[in-house]
Amino acid sequence: MRIDILTLFPPMFDGPLNASIQGRAREAKLVEIHVHDIRDWSTDKHNKVDDRPFGGGPGMVMMCQPLHDAVLAVEKMDPRPAQRILLTPQGERTTQTMVETLASHERLVLIAGHYEGIDERVIEELAPLEVSIGDYVLSGGELPALVLVDAITRLIPGVLGHEDSAAEDSFSVKDGTGQPLLDTPHYTRPREWNGTEVPEVLLSGDHGAIARWRHQQRVDRTTTRRPDLRHSQPTPDSGTSSTQDV
Ligand code: ADE
Repeated sequence: MRIDILTLFPPMFDGPLNASIQGRAREAKLVEIHVHDIRDWSTDKHNKVDDRPFGGGPGMVMMCQPLHDAVLAVEKMDPRPAQRILLTPQGERTTQTMVETLASHERLVLIAGHYEGIDERVIEELAPLEVSIGDYVLSGGELPALVLVDAITRLIPGVLGHEDSAAEDSFSVKDGTGQPLLDTPHYTRPREWNGTEVPEVLLSGDHGAIARWRHQQRVDRTTTRRPDLRHSQPTPDSGTSSTQDV
C-alpha cells in the first residue's frame, strides 16, 4: 500500500511516521508513505497558498491552484489509482469499519487542510472522500491524517506481530448480531498486585472458559461504557435485527 500525504506542515509528520509500529512497517516496506509540501506547487512568486475569504470573516482560505496541482502531480508519481481523502471536521465520522475499507485500497492520497478552510471549488473538483476523526475541531488536518494512517497501517498483514493481532481489538470483535464490542480487560504478572488478584479464570488453563469470560467482559463493558453501540442498528449482514448476545 502507498499513502501520500499533502500538507503545508511536513515537519509535523517526521516523528510519528518514523517511530514505533509506523516506522517498522515502513522499514519492512509493508507500507510506503510520502509526505509532500503543497507549497511546492504554488505558482505565485511568493509561494502563496492562502488568501482572505470572499465575503469577509476570520482567517485565511487555502487557494485552489496549489492544492489542485499538488494532488494531480502526486497522483502521477505512481500508476495505481488513488482514493483521495480530505481530512475535515465536516466529513464522515471515522469508524473501524471505514478504516477497514480504506485499508483495502492499494493507494490513498490524504489532504490535510489548514487555516479557516479550503476554497470549495477545489473540493468539488477533486471530489475527495471527506473524513472527520470526531466531533471536535483541531487546528488542521495533520493530526487527523496521522490518526488515519496509524489506524490503517496496523491492519496491513504483517504490520502487527501475531501476539497483538488487530482482530482482537475493540470494535473488531463483534457479538452474534454483528455489533462491535469493546476490548476485554488484560492482566500480566504479578498475580497479585496492590491487594488485587488476577481473575481466577485466566489462570485456569481452560481455554473455553477463558474465551467465554472474555466475551462476557466485552459485552458488559460495551453495555455500560458505550450503550450507543449496543442499541445502534445491526450491520446489514448480521442476519437479525435483535441485539441479543451469544
Ligand atoms: N481538521 C480539523 N478538525 C478535524 C477533525 N475533527 N477531523 C478531521 N479533520 C479535521
